[in-house]
Amino acid sequence: MRILGIETSCDETAAAVVEDNANILSSVVASQLATHGKYGGVVPELASREHLRAIVPVVRLALEQAQTGFDDLSAIAVTEGPGLVGSLLVGITYAKSICFARGIPLIGVNHIEGHIHAVILEAAQEIGFPAVALVVSGGHTHLFEVRDGCTYRLLGRTRDDAAGEAYDKVAKLLGFGYPGGPIIDQLAPHGDPNAVKFTLARMKGNTLDFSFSGLKTAVLRWVEARDLTVEIESRRKLQNPGIDDWLRTTPPATLGLLASFQKTVIEELLRRAKVAAEQIGARSLIIGGGVACNVGLRAAARNVNLPCPVYFPRPGLSTDNAAMIAAAAFQKFHAGKSDDFTLRAQANLSLA
Ligand code: KG4
Ligand code: ZN
Repeated sequence: MRILGIETSCDETAAAVVEDNANILSSVVASQLATHGKYGGVVPELASREHLRAIVPVVRLALEQAQTGFDDLSAIAVTEGPGLVGSLLVGITYAKSICFARGIPLIGVNHIEGHIHAVILEAAQEIGFPAVALVVSGGHTHLFEVRDGCTYRLLGRTRDDAAGEAYDKVAKLLGFGYPGGPIIDQLAPHGDPNAVKFTLARMKGNTLDFSFSGLKTAVLRWVEARDLTVEIESRRKLQNPGIDDWLRTTPPATLGLLASFQKTVIEELLRRAKVAAEQIGARSLIIGGGVACNVGLRAAARNVNLPCPVYFPRPGLSTDNAAMIAAAAFQKFHAGKSDDFTLRAQANLSLA
């Protein structure tokens, strides 16, 4: 049984064919980094236009690589939300057209559920339920209780910025490129993680919610208290920079700031994930989303004393991709669920 997944919620046009809920036959991701990089973030209008350009060749390539035709598909799964509405519309309209023309079932998938299934896809046999899922990306920082791979209960979420968004904003402020997460992650080991002491916002009550805007403001204050104009400008001028260029233009004090920022974010994520896992008696902790690529987070998750095993997807399945969308659709397909052509893009779709 083969499902074609289509993902266009943000700035990657992705298509993948997954067989029997386990084998990724193909996974094609066309990144729009070159388009948005110079603006330091995703420009929605440009994203929709790029999706329109890419959707047909990306799906064609995914089918070719999987040696699959439309007639071999049991269903087409497409991200229905959350995300940028103009971007979501491209994938949804394309998926509907093919399903209508070929008589293939259409399945709408929540993007956040996709990030959880990117992990379940690779370790289905090992993951015990109930599980806690930490979905941590540029748009989301959520903690869920996952009962059996398809029922979710929201345990906590960010009250302001997503963790990946905080990474991207800090990187932009300091003249690093976009997305900022991978750059800060690479630079952090070169700085002193105890150089800057950040205090995180205290929230009332016994909450599993996150807040990263105070941390972002603390970084801004640190930068404002120093004259870093020359340093920051020297980085902004770099053409196609790599890690060596970043290192050359970043003095120890700024490296210490980045290392301290990363340490604080990681501690915050794992602290609340651990409490959540203890509270629900979790048998696994699943960590997905773009920030799950973070090398420091992966190392810390192995070293902190968690009450259950932790599972990460491989990096290519952590950031946005379509294999996770196809994977999340299998359980719906088996349960006989599909969508009709009234399926619509929902920018703020929630999972639970
Ligand atoms: O899941 P994703 O591709 O898109 C969303 O659904 O948002 O996540 C992208 C986010 C960006 O904010 C990026 O900076 C962050 O994931 N990211 C990282 C790392 N790699 C990507 N953040 C921290 N460390 C990384 N290694
Ligand atoms: Zn995502």
